[in-house]
Amino acid sequence: MRKKLSFVLLLSGLMGLATSGATHAQDIQAQRLYNQSLAATCANCHGTNGVSVPGVTVPMINHLPESVMYELLMAYKTGKRTGTIMHQLAKGYTDEQLKTIASVLGKKN
Ligand code: HEC
Repeated sequence: MRKKLSFVLLLSGLMGLATSGATHAQDIQAQRLYNQSLAATCANCHGTNGVSVPGVTVPMINHLPESVMYELLMAYKTGKRTGTIMHQLAKGYTDEQLKTIASVLGKKN
């Protein structure tokens, strides 16, 4: 009887572990999806993954290292750098979101 109870306890413990693992994986997936969709807001102009369509005047951004891209975005946001549109767009994101976007689109250092 006692053995059976501890077996049940062990099983429910293992199931708990399994479900918490699944939740963790889902969290990571949801986070990745969020990051990707934030970065996708740039694709209209800069192309998928920052590779603009040849012949278009919008600058290519996929060659920029992650940290440089973040600095440029912050410069637009704070008004240190100006342009036709980027200084307006950058203001629409939190610093954290710009960091996330730079980490998705920027070249890894
Ligand atoms: C409506 C079109 C448009 C969208 C959307 C857009 N950009 Fe831009 N981006 C531009 C243009 C045009 C420039 C050139 C500067 C200017 O005129 O504002 C530029 C410049 C930049 C630069 C500077 C590149 C360099 O080498 O000087 C970076 C970095 C950049 N954009 C990143 C982004 C990111 C990240 C997003 C998404 C959050 C984004 N852009 C969304 C049009 C856009």
